[in-house]
Parts: sequence; structure tokens; C-alpha cells
Amino acid sequence: MLRRSTAWLEKRGIESPRLDVEILMAHALGLKRLDLYLQFDRPLGDDELDAIRKLVVARSERRPVAYLVGEREFFSLAFTVDERVLVPRPETEQLVELAVARLGSRADPVFADVGTGSGCIAVAVLHEVEDARALAIDVEAGALEVAASNAERHGVAERFEAHRGDLLEPLRATSAWGALDAVLSNPPYIVRGDSGVEAGVLEHEPHQALFVPGDDPLELARRIATAALKALAPGGFVALEVGHESGALAGAMLEALGYRDVEVLEDLAGIERVAVGIRA
Ligand SMILES: C[S@@+](CC[C@H](N)C(=O)[O-])C[C@H]1O[C@@H](n2cnc3c(N)ncnc32)[C@H](O)[C@@H]1O
Repeated sequence: MLRRSTAWLEKRGIESPRLDVEILMAHALGLKRLDLYLQFDRPLGDDELDAIRKLVVARSERRPVAYLVGEREFFSLAFTVDERVLVPRPETEQLVELAVARLGSRADPVFADVGTGSGCIAVAVLHEVEDARALAIDVEAGALEVAASNAERHGVAERFEAHRGDLLEPLRATSAWGALDAVLSNPPYIVRGDSGVEAGVLEHEPHQALFVPGDDPLELARRIATAALKALAPGGFVALEVGHESGALAGAMLEALGYRDVEVLEDLAGIERVAVGIRA
């Protein structure tokens, strides 16, 4: 079954067919991946074969594995995901690392996570920084439901507050406005029509999570950084994940807005990914 399904996915142009089949089979059988090999000679029942076939067919239609199994690991935590949210990406862990390092030295820090999606950034930071509080914002009600379920799943729900609305606007009328320790965001930064987006991403992940409204990849990042000048307490920081060609521009944008000690951090692949600056 492993061999046949792998060959089938390979023929349909799926990039990591063996790994995907292992994950899907393990999920269908309620096993760990390693168990597939430990139980290599176990006969499969008709129901089990059916369940595996359905998942493999769905994968051949380029549905992301994370949606098929209902979760994705991020920052060593399992996050529930479905079609309402972007699948968390490993490069976003860098934003979490930076936030944990900087917020960990502050007393009772309060931060915003703008465009929280699955809640992966907010929940991972709350998990690491025990006295922190997160105000997680998304324009999509469905995303906030997923994020809240992940906060619950990882035992941080009482320090996680969901707000629905446009970027930082929902916080304007709250006591957190002007008092935030950090504004974190991995906003949409792809321009519609960009030919570099994988077909599976384009067909199955929410477009609200992928695309900027116009043709400037930094449009939402700029609006967040501009509003954050008012939402942050003096000395608070903004940290933004940006597209792979926008790092230097994002750094220059933060400097032009008046942020100090601006840095642009590279991800593991050496791509400038996260722009960070401190409110003067
Ligand atoms: C790139 S996804 C990031 C999701 C998650 N934070 C992560 O890193 O995986 C961007 C998120 O921003 C939300 N979003 C898009 N436009 C928004 C807006 N104007 N105001 C608030 N949220 C927005 C989308 O619904 C989506 O959940």
C-alpha cells in the first residue's frame, strides 16, 4: 500500500510522495509513522484500505496534508488546522523565537498577533512566556474559532483574547491601545497573479490569508507598522514576517516610519524574513 500509493502520488507530481503517504496512512490507521514499519506485515481490513485510499486521492488533488490529518506541528506544538486557516510554516517560527526572547525579559507583557489565523504565533509565544497575554486579531470569524481552539488545546486560553476586525483597529478602543509591549504579525504578502505560488496552496489555502489587496507586497505590513506606532507603548516593538524579496524594503519602511534599532533577520535558508523595530 505504501509503495503503490507513493508511486501514484509521484506520477501526479506531488513533491514528497513517500512522506505524505506515510503521514496519511499513519493517520488513517491511528498509528505513529514508525509503527507502519514495525507492523509492516499486518493485513489491512477493507475499511482501513478505504480510509487510506480516500486520503491519498485527496492528496493527489493537492489538498495540503495538514488539512487532511487536521493538524500541523509548529514550534514543537500540534496545531489544529482546517481550510479556514493558513497552514503554519516553519519559517514563521523565527518570529516566535524573536518574540519569546524579547518578551521573556518583560514583566506581564501584552502583545497583539495581527492576522492570527490558526493562532500559531500567539499560542506558541504564550506557551513559552508564562506571564504574557495575547490579543489575537483576525478579519475571519472562522480563523478566530480555530485559534481559540488551539489556545484551549495548549492550556493558554485564559491569557488569549480573540478580536475580530481589520488589523489593529479592534484594539483602538481598549485599554491596551498605547500600552502594548509588542505587535507581531505574519500578514498576507503575496500579490495576486504571482506565478511563484504553488498550485496546492492557491487551490486550497484561504486567499484572505495569502494575498494583499493591491499590488504592493508590503501594503498590510506598512498599515500594521503605522498603526503600531500608536498601539505600542514607548519601547515596545513591532515584528513582521515579510515575503522573500521584501526584507530590506521592510527594514527601510520601519526606519522611515521612525522606529529605532531596526533589524532584518534571516531565516534558516538565508532569506531576510522578519523586520523588527522599536517604538522610540
Ligand atoms: C498569512 S496568514 C497568517 C496566519 C498565522 N498568523 C500564521 O502565521 O500562520 C494571514 C492572516 O491574516 C488574516 N487577515 C487578512 N487580512 C486581514 C485584515 N485586514 N485584518 C485582520 N486580519 C487579516 C487572514 O485571515 C489570515 O488568517
